[in-house]
Amino acid sequence: ASLSTFVNEPFLDFADADVKRSMEAALAEVKGELGREYDLVIGGQRLRTAEKITSINPARPAQVVGVHQMAEAEHAEPAVKAALKAFETWSRLPVAERVELLLKVSKIISERKYQLCAWLTFEVGKNWAEADADVAECIDFMEFYAREALRLDGSTTPIQFPGEKNVLKYVPLGVGAVIPPWNFPFAIMAGMTAAAIVTGNTVVLKPSVDATTIAAVFFGILEEAGLPAGVVNFCPGAGPGFGSTVVAHPQTRFVAFTGSKKVGLEIHESAAKTQPGQRFIKRTILEMGGKDAIIVDGDCDIDMAVDGVLASAFGFSGQKCSACSRAIVDAEIYDVFCDRLVEKVEKIKQGDPAENFYAGPVISPLAYKRVLDYIEIGKGEGRLLTGGEAVANEGGYYVAPTVFADVLPTARIALEEIFGPVLAVIKYESFDEALEIANNTEYGLTGAIYSGSREKLERAREEFHVGNLYLNRKCTGAMVGAHPFGGFNMSGTDSKAGGPDYLLLFTQGKSVAEKV
Ligand code: SER
Repeated sequence: ASLSTFVNEPFLDFADADVKRSMEAALAEVKGELGREYDLVIGGQRLRTAEKITSINPARPAQVVGVHQMAEAEHAEPAVKAALKAFETWSRLPVAERVELLLKVSKIISERKYQLCAWLTFEVGKNWAEADADVAECIDFMEFYAREALRLDGSTTPIQFPGEKNVLKYVPLGVGAVIPPWNFPFAIMAGMTAAAIVTGNTVVLKPSVDATTIAAVFFGILEEAGLPAGVVNFCPGAGPGFGSTVVAHPQTRFVAFTGSKKVGLEIHESAAKTQPGQRFIKRTILEMGGKDAIIVDGDCDIDMAVDGVLASAFGFSGQKCSACSRAIVDAEIYDVFCDRLVEKVEKIKQGDPAENFYAGPVISPLAYKRVLDYIEIGKGEGRLLTGGEAVANEGGYYVAPTVFADVLPTARIALEEIFGPVLAVIKYESFDEALEIANNTEYGLTGAIYSGSREKLERAREEFHVGNLYLNRKCTGAMVGAHPFGGFNMSGTDSKAGGPDYLLLFTQGKSVAEKV
């Protein structure tokens, strides 16, 4: 099979009256579907458990988005077994058939774009554009990995040895645990799953407890597209208990995880421990946190930098591993930058994402408490320029977009990931110092620099130690294919989702030489 050249899915233009109407209609339609109960599905069998996961709307916690089963440790064994069984046939299918499935899924998602956006709005509090970006990225992953799987299938050895026919084939690993985050609960969840299955693996999918419904909707789409039973086993559950048992299972061959540093390191450690009966070294594909910085140089376009910092820090309330949580600003323009930034931050409108307010709530009561606790810490570490408090609205978990200035590079709010709408502004005197501060955390995911100086941009290119660096643009919004995504150091295994090496992580190379 050969497919058209990959192009990124275009974003919707909600300023267009028809597009806006379609989104409103989808919100009304999906609102009528909120609160339904979904099954746990192992090997095609639909199960119900006594304990449930209740997914709520963080903007209106009284609104139940979906009710889900709660897989426990005892479900790990049947889930892995079902995946192992499905692996026998799924792994042997011609790649074109698995590619076909991804393309079908992509088509269904495109047709239901607005409804899927609506689910994201209700379940995790994304405004329309953020929801659309998540759905578009999901389509991109399907289309990109479909093409990548075909490319990988066409691999050849670099050299043919005289007198032999040499073949290099990438074969699947086996059963994988896929453990996605709640913040890109559609794109990242579906992207990791798609990469695993298109290469011939089978999966135990444990979605986040904070975003289980959108995963259930995706699983429904997989079934509709004809996914055989057991290839993906849909197992909502908690990390401790179910998740950790699947990770530790002796027949789990790999773990694809996106989430916090703490859980990522636990998975890494658990996967490294050989279990009785285990016959392979487990592989982990880990995407973790960030403490991402934007350097704002004295000779940059200040308004452009303000807009970039604003979007990177406060888009989806800063709940992205790519979010800017540190602005490192040249002393020469520091005061002007702070004034203009605060002026714009104070214009941010906060409210229900279903009504398309720019800033919505944070995801959960736990997140709300963590962010507010960090704000209290920040009050002792920096000068509060704006925000700094919770905002009451329908019981939702709203925190005002918050900016602290005069933060030291060694302050806790300058080093620890907050994962909320809190920005620390740090002043620098020399460009050497700017780079030193930028590289001063244990993370290394994204970073950006705004500068008019070619020399400084080139120094940043070499010395700013992050997996995704952006010159004169914001540090969020990586595009599949163009910006393979993943970070250094404690940000993860730099696995580069949406890049040319990603599918290799889900395979192992088999070299076959035949004498001719
Ligand atoms: N890929 C997202 C971004 O670039 C983060 O997961 O913002």
